[in-house]
Amino acid sequence: MTTGSLLAADLVIAVLAAGGWLGGGAASAARRRPLALGLAAFALLATLARAITITALARAGWWFAAEKVLIAAPLSLAAVAVAGPRLLRAAGDIRSVAVPLLFAGYATSGALLVTVLHGYPASAGAGLLTVAGVVAATAVSWRALGARPSRTVSRATLVVAVAALVTGTGLTAVPDGVPDVPHDHGYRDARTVSEPTRRFTLTAGTATVRVGGRDVAAWAFDAQVPGPELTATVGDVVEVTLRNRDIGRGVTLHWHGYDVPNSQDGVPGVTQAAVLPGQEFVYRFRADQAGTYWYHTHSVSDIGVRMGLYGVLVVRPGPMTGLDVTVPVHTLAGRPLPAPRTERVETGTPVRLRLINTDSTTHRYALAGTAFRVAAIDGFDLRGPTSLVDTAVLIPAGGRYDLVFNAPATPVALFVDGRVVYSTGEVSTATTAWPVLDPLRYGVASPAPWSRIDREFTLVLDRGLDLHELLPRYAHTVNGAADPDIPTQVVRLGDIVRFTIVNRSQIVHPWHLHGHHVLVLSRDGKPAAGSPLWLDSFDVRPGEVWEVAFRADNPGMWANHCHNLAHADAGMTLHLMVS
Ligand code: C2O
Ligand code: CU
Repeated sequence: MTTGSLLAADLVIAVLAAGGWLGGGAASAARRRPLALGLAAFALLATLARAITITALARAGWWFAAEKVLIAAPLSLAAVAVAGPRLLRAAGDIRSVAVPLLFAGYATSGALLVTVLHGYPASAGAGLLTVAGVVAATAVSWRALGARPSRTVSRATLVVAVAALVTGTGLTAVPDGVPDVPHDHGYRDARTVSEPTRRFTLTAGTATVRVGGRDVAAWAFDAQVPGPELTATVGDVVEVTLRNRDIGRGVTLHWHGYDVPNSQDGVPGVTQAAVLPGQEFVYRFRADQAGTYWYHTHSVSDIGVRMGLYGVLVVRPGPMTGLDVTVPVHTLAGRPLPAPRTERVETGTPVRLRLINTDSTTHRYALAGTAFRVAAIDGFDLRGPTSLVDTAVLIPAGGRYDLVFNAPATPVALFVDGRVVYSTGEVSTATTAWPVLDPLRYGVASPAPWSRIDREFTLVLDRGLDLHELLPRYAHTVNGAADPDIPTQVVRLGDIVRFTIVNRSQIVHPWHLHGHHVLVLSRDGKPAAGSPLWLDSFDVRPGEVWEVAFRADNPGMWANHCHNLAHADAGMTLHLMVS
């Protein structure tokens, strides 16, 4: 069983246990003896089963089990200790076990709420608040059922609840806020580097575009989705003038995966102000890294990108040889892009398919009709990629894979989630059952470029209740906090930094650090065994633990976030300060 499915199973069992206890309590209050005993027995079994799931999760990593061991387990034990013996002695009036069963129900539900609303790290505050809630709810039920607890019991209950409440509230402190984001770092500014050799202008505006035979409202660069494809050759100095015609919420250009100087990174509120209607901003950077990249707005990025403010950036090492096809996949107004394209290709032509996922969720790509190699991932060439046949690749949100092959005499077709998007003729192959390539086991390994780690950070990804501008929201969290309350990680220029990224939630989080590519060290404790993988976007699936490292060689304040942009907007964004 994977840790992801363990997390899901544990959650389901916890819900069943809580439901069983509460149902049993209600049934016994209503003097429905067989039902009450049945539900209670079921709840008892479910509660005991959690001993197994919680132990297994703790063995997978403390992050997955902390609050379960510290809060759920003691409360479950209390539930069993209180309800169990009374059930055995419930020979007479079944109503006499109602309060113990309800107590067990409140205890297990309370612990469940801690997991769902608070998560990692477990805090004494959360534990005490839960105890206060459980005690108070039990006391209220006791009274409601007309029983008369003795004075001492009532007093003790009150004291425990109040004490837990007081200490709990005090301990649930809000994490430290982000230090003020500096707006002018005074770092090397690309504008002073040299004269541009490639100039582009992109005008952002609302537009109506045709997708799948339908007109849809979009936000677009130069009235097209995707925006114009920007190409350059290594050594070029690229200058892009961004104009905003009428996007009221502002626009910027972020060069996804291109490690530009901080002032050119396009993050509003961090590296520049958003470009408002009628304004413009000029980006300039040297194209010193060949590969497949993309650009997108970073202002209200979830809506902005979804509405169409993105395009392709390709940097070639030299003059083009063979056929070079870019396939930026996107979902616009519920319809898939790009439109399918067929072209005849001469046998033997070297072909490079640049697959780009500009959506917020993973896509599955399958190339049928030819053997191929994965030449590059996220713009970086792989070492010793071997030939693959009938193998699919999963590309995370924001990620890019370059597939290369020599055109065979027979047609080839590229499927994205089962739909043909590019082909050189008619191909009818079922690709859905193909195995998926594991990039951590592909290509030839080489020794790590460093022998030391200077700084280490752990990022535990989860969900939790959070106050945002005084309104409660169910945020996507990092280490129990949501943007803007996640402390900025501060490192020195040149440090070798290791991130351990743990996903204890039930959803995939495609992680994306700005300004740097990270080298994958391990996943779930197993070292990466293939070609060195220098990624800027990688899926951390539920229950997974990734270790990645990078040299902090690009000074400035960098965004570090989930590239499911809805998650990023709902709290899953922090910053890395390199100075
Ligand atoms: Cu492609 Cu901060 O994003
Ligand atoms: Cu996410």
